[in-house]
Amino acid sequence: MRETLEETGLAIRVSDLLGIWVDAYADDLRDQDADWISVAYYSAEAVADEGEPDPAEVSEQRWFAPHDLPSGLSPPGTLESVLDVWKTRTGRARRRTTPVTERVTLRRATPDDVAFLVDLYGDDDVDPFLGPRRARTREEVLAEVERSQREPRTFGRMIIETGGERAGALGWREVNARNRIAHLEGLAVHPSFRGRRLADAAAREVQRLLVFELGYHRLELACYAFNERAIIHAERSGFVREGVKRKAYERNGEWQDAVEFGLVREDLE
Ligand SMILES: CC(C)(COP(=O)(O)OP(=O)(O)OC[C@H]1O[C@@H](n2cnc3c(N)ncnc32)[C@H](O)[C@@H]1OP(=O)(O)O)[C@@H](O)C(=O)NCCC(=O)NCCS
Repeated sequence: MRETLEETGLAIRVSDLLGIWVDAYADDLRDQDADWISVAYYSAEAVADEGEPDPAEVSEQRWFAPHDLPSGLSPPGTLESVLDVWKTRTGRARRRTTPVTERVTLRRATPDDVAFLVDLYGDDDVDPFLGPRRARTREEVLAEVERSQREPRTFGRMIIETGGERAGALGWREVNARNRIAHLEGLAVHPSFRGRRLADAAAREVQRLLVFELGYHRLELACYAFNERAIIHAERSGFVREGVKRKAYERNGEWQDAVEFGLVREDLE
């Protein structure tokens, strides 16, 4: 607590010792030259901001959301395991009794799915998270479904099903034919099917379809930076966070950052 105050200017209260991790910054832990470290990780809260960071100790200081912490703060894999302990202790971990991946199927949408899609995309817990230019009305959604049937490789509108029921939807469009790049879009799981990791399972299915069956070399997607659920989902299903486009999209009169993700064929092999 004293050191935090001296170095960062923040007075903190320690609430928990999360544990002590012994590990090394090395690809192979049998490496004789590896430098072993043991680090105690605590959970703490700031109680007062008492001054400036000490420039002799701290070059830069800011707050990070857990999923935004820079890599390199710990040897590979350690930070994730520390955060898992923190989430469990602080009740942030969601129930783990549901299967990690439930079986889902993806099938191409047909005109019979249009009412389901209009209802899904109009839902209050879906609409604010998707871009404003996407299809909304019955006519616009039907036009996309028909295009997906006409151009099955370069444009997709798919229904996510589980146990024979419609649970959500996702889509893609080719954005660069020469470099075989497709952009994923329109992902949504109906609120009554959330929390079962169906989006993760569906994402893995569509990745394999686009890369191994339809021949795409690179997949891209972007989420609003405030969309924590989508960011967690994207990272968990194998997309690599490639950067942030600052103030890229205007939404309700405010500029929003976009978090960009990519996946290349090698990531699946
Ligand atoms: C993104 C989406 C498809 C993921 O669906 P899902 O697989 O059912 O996952 P959930 O919505 O349950 O949430 C995913 C994770 O986010 C986290 N999460 C859930 N609610 C959260 C919240 N309010 N704030 C922060 N994180 C949250 C949880 O860790 C959850 O993982 P868990 O399985 O460990 O509990 C779904 O949330 C959705 O349809 N959102 C609206 C549309 C959208 O955002 N589309 C993506 C546009 S890029």
